[in-house]
Amino acid sequence: MTRPQASAEQPRRSALYLPASNPKAIAKTRTLPCDIVILDLEDAVAPEMKEEARRAAVAALEEGGFGGREVAIRVNGLDTPWGSDDLAAIATSRADAVLVPKVDGPSDIARYEAALREAPSSLQLWAMIETCASVFALESIAAMAKTGRLSLWIMGTNDLAKEMRAQLTPERTPFLPFLSMAVAAARAHGLTVLDGVCNEFRDLDVFTAEARQGLLFGFDGKSLIHPSQIEPCNAVFSPGEHELAWARGVIEAFALPENRQKGVIRVDGKMTEILHLEQARRLVAVAEQIAARD
Ligand code: COA
Ligand code: MG
Repeated sequence: MTRPQASAEQPRRSALYLPASNPKAIAKTRTLPCDIVILDLEDAVAPEMKEEARRAAVAALEEGGFGGREVAIRVNGLDTPWGSDDLAAIATSRADAVLVPKVDGPSDIARYEAALREAPSSLQLWAMIETCASVFALESIAAMAKTGRLSLWIMGTNDLAKEMRAQLTPERTPFLPFLSMAVAAARAHGLTVLDGVCNEFRDLDVFTAEARQGLLFGFDGKSLIHPSQIEPCNAVFSPGEHELAWARGVIEAFALPENRQKGVIRVDGKMTEILHLEQARRLVAVAEQIAARD
């Protein structure tokens, strides 16, 4: 069964990684409230388990039971011994997306597109942004979305910290310029963009602060490593009561007969323009999709 294509308002608040070599985790995921499931064949799987993990990921999708969640498989890179077999297996699987690691520039996206030539057009290509080289090619990587399957980015902050030899502290200071440039590049080309993982999964205050930082930067959602992170993540990335009340107020105000022809009006004592009306409509549409899902 092919699933409907993702819409711009589709909730993509929470994307949970799990090693595809862990059958218990796969079974558990079918009951968890995450918007996206990422079955990992790459960093979370040891070399001797790669083939087993690939078979398990394809079989899990065959079995189904993921409901409305999007399911992606993260493959090993094409320059590893497993990459091309991973891509071949996924091209004929029921995955919604293939997530590719360590993209340096647009030519890497082109290589993955070529490897997926025969796959159904509904299979999306998602990319990890996690190498130092990619920092300087963000716009040209994002521009590949115009001509192919590329539809979503995930920040790989652990790999980036390793390559940069930077420290991944809760404030994420060394990464801030890169995070905002990535969001801007993604938006310029209509990509969904998800923040990196927070390795701290016991202290949910630390997690929540980091998720809020991602929201502040404009991310659509966050990638996660543990079920405990899903609910706080969904809460941070769902429009709040206050925001929704503002959005409804803006929509109502612009709908008044005396405001129909106006580009700028006053709502609750604040300057409000057509651009705010667009933001308000998007918020309400996102909230409606979330309500339909929950
Ligand atoms: N997805 C689904 N289920 C998960 C999960 C995940 N990412 N992480 C843990 N669980 C499940 C466990 O299987 C366990 O289930 P059970 O109660 O039925 O036995 C339950 O949640 C509790 O797990 P817990 O004991 O708290 O965690 P752990 O110490 O076993 O594992 C990690 C900790 C970090 C190793 C594990 O969470 C994990 O593998 N995360 C994903 C890592 C990953 O994919 N990294 C790649 C991208 S950065
Ligand atoms: Mg990685």
